[in-house]
Amino acid sequence: MDKVEIFENERAAGYNQFVETWIPNYNYFLDRLPKLLRETNNKDLLVVGCGTGNEIERFIQSPEYWDITGIDPSPEMIKQAHEKLQNRKNVKFIEGVVTDLNVEKKYGAATLLLVLHFLNDDGEKLNLLKSIAERLESGAPFVILDITGDEIQIKHNLKILRLLLPDGLDEEQINNRLNRIEKELYPVSEKRMSELCTEAGFELPLRFFQSAIYMGWITKKK
Ligand SMILES: C[S@@+](CC[C@H](N)C(=O)[O-])C[C@H]1O[C@@H](n2cnc3c(N)ncnc32)[C@H](O)[C@@H]1O
Repeated sequence: MDKVEIFENERAAGYNQFVETWIPNYNYFLDRLPKLLRETNNKDLLVVGCGTGNEIERFIQSPEYWDITGIDPSPEMIKQAHEKLQNRKNVKFIEGVVTDLNVEKKYGAATLLLVLHFLNDDGEKLNLLKSIAERLESGAPFVILDITGDEIQIKHNLKILRLLLPDGLDEEQINNRLNRIEKELYPVSEKRMSELCTEAGFELPLRFFQSAIYMGWITKKK
């Protein structure tokens, strides 16, 4: 069973406000996601850790017709996604983890935004990436957004992140959050991200986006 980071109560309820504050250019990234994946012929899309449905919302609005499966272990996040995107016949939500999905069904593209940094690099990250790769057809594009960098990069980019935050935030709250990112999450270096992806069954990933500590990666299932 994949390791799960719990999102409930205030953490789930305040999620959208939180990402907008703390991830500069997040909405730009989301808006461009459908364009990045649109070359795939198989429009069966797997959105891993779909949370409140932010990625899915963008795919619904795109000109291509996507058949979307959003999967997330948090009932409260999935509930918000349901409420936001009710009654779409091309969207299915599953409360669970990737290993719950039938491995016979192959998707044509997948996304994994802001999930990997919650998992330890002791096999947890690799297991999740492998379980996604196993459910993609060969050549399927896969996009990751995650905190990435070695210790020094993260340290410097946290300073940049502080500069980019909206004005008027509480200083103590800023310090607590930056401290948590540095001490309690599990980012990996760019080199390690490449190793994990290739070991899991993907091509060498390309870093195409960066906003302070957050990097966007694109690769394909081998
Ligand atoms: C920071 S949120 C990101 C949500 C969404 N991808 C977005 O960008 O708005 C992280 C999400 O990952 C989910 N999650 C935690 N562990 C997971 C796992 N092992 N597999 C899939 N999703 C997981 C959490 O429930 C949460 O909804």
